[in-house]
Amino acid sequence: MSEDEEASSGRYIVVKALEDGVVIMGLTRGKDTRSHHSERLDAGEVMVAQFTELTAAMKVRGHAEILTNVGRLVSGL
Ligand code: TRP
Repeated sequence: MSEDEEASSGRYIVVKALEDGVVIMGLTRGKDTRSHHSERLDAGEVMVAQFTELTAAMKVRGHAEILTNVGRLVSGL
C-alpha cells in the first residue's frame, strides 16, 4: 500500500443503531461519489466498518450513536 493509500484508509467507524431500520451507506473514493454498499441495522445492532481504498465516506440515516477517530455523535432526531 502506498503512503497516500495508507493515509486515506484504515480508519474505523462504529455505528450503534438506536432505532430499527438505521441504514449505513459506503460512498466511493475518487471523482464520483456513489453508494457502493448499504447495511440496515435494527435497534441495538452495532456495525464496525473500515474506510478503505474504495470507501472514502459513510452516510448514516436514522437514529444512531456514531464513534469515529474525530469523536462521538448521535444522528437522527
Ligand atoms: N468521492 C468523494 C471523495 O473521494 C467521497 C467523499 C469523501 C465525500 N469525503 C466526502 C463526499 C465528503 C461528500 C462529502 O472525495
